[in-house]
Amino acid sequence: MTRLTDDLRASPPGLHGAGDEYWGLAWAALGWLEENVTEGMATLETGSGSSTLVFASARAEHEAVTPDSAEEARVRRECERRGIDSSSVRFRIGPSHEVLPQLEARPLDLVLLDGAHGFPYPVLDWWHVAPHVRVGGVVLLDDAYMPPVRVLVDALREQPGWEVAAAVSLPPFDWRGEPIGGRMSFRYLPPARRVGASLRHRAFSTALGLRVVALARRRSALRWRKRG
Ligand SMILES: C[S@@+](CC[C@H](N)C(=O)[O-])C[C@H]1O[C@@H](n2cnc3c(N)ncnc32)[C@H](O)[C@@H]1O
Repeated sequence: MTRLTDDLRASPPGLHGAGDEYWGLAWAALGWLEENVTEGMATLETGSGSSTLVFASARAEHEAVTPDSAEEARVRRECERRGIDSSSVRFRIGPSHEVLPQLEARPLDLVLLDGAHGFPYPVLDWWHVAPHVRVGGVVLLDDAYMPPVRVLVDALREQPGWEVAAAVSLPPFDWRGEPIGGRMSFRYLPPARRVGASLRHRAFSTALGLRVVALARRRSALRWRKRG
């Protein structure tokens, strides 16, 4: 049951940028969070947005680390508008490389790393939270197709203390993230899905492919609005 995810998908709120942008998790990943986060879980995320709404709605004991205090105001307002009590969420305002070293020790059940994506921030975020993740806990790495995140996935595959689980979602069609550390990579996916994702990306990153995606998105946005 992913009712909140479906509602957000139907009308994504402006939580990011100047309050008119939506940089939320892929819908499949947001749905996974909604299905797996439960009341009282000790959770933390770098970055904030729709994921924070999901943590709040599940009544997790949650911390969100973001340098943008306006995001806190927007997330809390959006929670209020949707009747979600955000009192179990604590925002820590500042860049993660400054905030995370000051973390109060508490065993974490689930961590979402979705803050700064340039090198070396994903690795730094993991470095600071890893000692707090309890054995059996989960770290969700968003955007594993971005090279600065992929290096972390590759390193964790080699570490006996960590198990790399299946990917929750595929990369977006139209990522143009060359400034964030290089070309998109599908190495984090198992071989069969890797080939499919790579072919899909090749087909859709042409000018024609991008137009098809834009058209499909407009159609799907309309479909979602009608349903709502
Ligand atoms: C992709 S968005 C996060 C989306 C969010 N998980 C959601 O589902 O809506 C990236 C977030 O990282 C935050 N951010 C940017 N630089 C950061 C930093 N140095 N430390 C922590 N967060 C950062 C941005 O303010 C933004 O909230």
